[in-house]
Amino acid sequence: MSDPDDPFDLRKDAPLLDGWLAFRATDIAPFTTPGHKQRTNLVGPLVRDDIPLYGGVDTIRQRAGMLAEADEKLARLWGADWGRISVGGSTHGNQTLALALCRPGDEVVVTRTLHRSLLLGMVLVGVTPVWVRPEVDPTTGLPTHVPVERVARALAEHPAARAVFLVEPTYVGTLSDVAGHAEVAHAHGIPLVVDQAWGAYFGFHPELPRHALQSGADAMVTSAHKTLPAHTQAALVLARTERIDRDRLDRAFEATATTSPSGSIAASADAARALLAREGERLLGQLLKLADHARERLRKVPGLVLLDDVVDRSVILDRAKFAINVSGTGASGLAVENHLIAAGLPVELADRDTIIPILSMNDDLEVVDRFVDGVIDAVERERSTPRPVLPSISWTVSPQVVVSPRDAFFAAHVTVPAEQAIGRVSAELVAPYPPGIPVLAPGERITREAVEGLRQAQADGTQVRYAADRTLRSFQVLAEG
Ligand SMILES: Cc1ncc(COP(=O)(O)O)c(C=O)c1O
Repeated sequence: MSDPDDPFDLRKDAPLLDGWLAFRATDIAPFTTPGHKQRTNLVGPLVRDDIPLYGGVDTIRQRAGMLAEADEKLARLWGADWGRISVGGSTHGNQTLALALCRPGDEVVVTRTLHRSLLLGMVLVGVTPVWVRPEVDPTTGLPTHVPVERVARALAEHPAARAVFLVEPTYVGTLSDVAGHAEVAHAHGIPLVVDQAWGAYFGFHPELPRHALQSGADAMVTSAHKTLPAHTQAALVLARTERIDRDRLDRAFEATATTSPSGSIAASADAARALLAREGERLLGQLLKLADHARERLRKVPGLVLLDDVVDRSVILDRAKFAINVSGTGASGLAVENHLIAAGLPVELADRDTIIPILSMNDDLEVVDRFVDGVIDAVERERSTPRPVLPSISWTVSPQVVVSPRDAFFAAHVTVPAEQAIGRVSAELVAPYPPGIPVLAPGERITREAVEGLRQAQADGTQVRYAADRTLRSFQVLAEG
């Protein structure tokens, strides 16, 4: 009979999970943080399972060395020679890698589908981005890949660039030729770093893309919490140290990490790693079948288009994921999302034309069928005249760097009406969320296209975050420039 607290008997191979279970099973009266002491009498069950890493899962002095052991197992599974479990999400991982690889004043070649966390990592370090833009699929308006030649051209024009940073897969589940990018970066003697936040299961099933390190990248970050059975915030940072200084990696990781990591989050990442190693291929096989099943049903709905069905055949896809385009049904993606929320079926992303659900190894046929029924029902309720796709500004933004993100971040700024902001240099980062790709970034010229694109996203119902003026009637610009 399996142990309900550890159904796959992972604790033998997952030291942090073992420490977590041992702490919970013992009658301990901790005279350490956290102040809730795992007692539910004051704020209820909310705090019961929150066990700290130090003074909980392991002792304050880390006597058992469980974290180091878990990190070693992590690195080994991904074929890395450096790996760390993070409790700060891929946000922490992106900042770590920016700090570890670049120096103030460096140029780096970066995809413009980057997440805001990497842009803010660039602010921390003081690097200047050389942007490369993705191809956009004309039928769905979604990004497909960054062509290798585009990065090669950027490197030829900026021979001093210190690294290439890509996001693979994109938010919508498409990938570039990572191996080709690695070759180009290495031919220039620089590392390739991949934000693989959405691809934690890559490399663990033959029908899924290889993970970034298998494809030749030097470092990657992935959010275990996004697609694996791990706590929110759990992330993995992995590197090969041939082109990256190992000591700098450690220093950079610690520089931006909390000193009070949650043992529950860390143990869940450890458990997810052990599960992937042992059961990954089988569980991912089931997930792929569920995704195929959902796709098969959805493609029968008149007007619905799946990105997988229309994208150029050369584009590599994460087949565990799918993006649904609703423009041919005339329904608004955001109206469909509202019905799905009301039916208890929230999705990860919805905008005017697109809906992206996240399926995981924790889903089963029943829940996937319920989701598909929910989509069909919502689409039929909202069906109207088909409309052309309007690509989101998140995928089409065309930035013009005037000063480095760091210089702009620290410069004096003024707030001006939107009309006067056009042509000036942005002091703020503004991003529709999801996907969290900056449309305005500190140091970039504000264009009419960007302002109109943000307003369109907001009018369609997408949340536009981080703008000081949420109405988008005014913007913060550099006082000079
Ligand atoms: C591409 C990408 N990178 C990084 C992140 C940040 O990840 P986290 O929320 O784990 O900090 C996200 C979040 O959505 C993302 O989409």
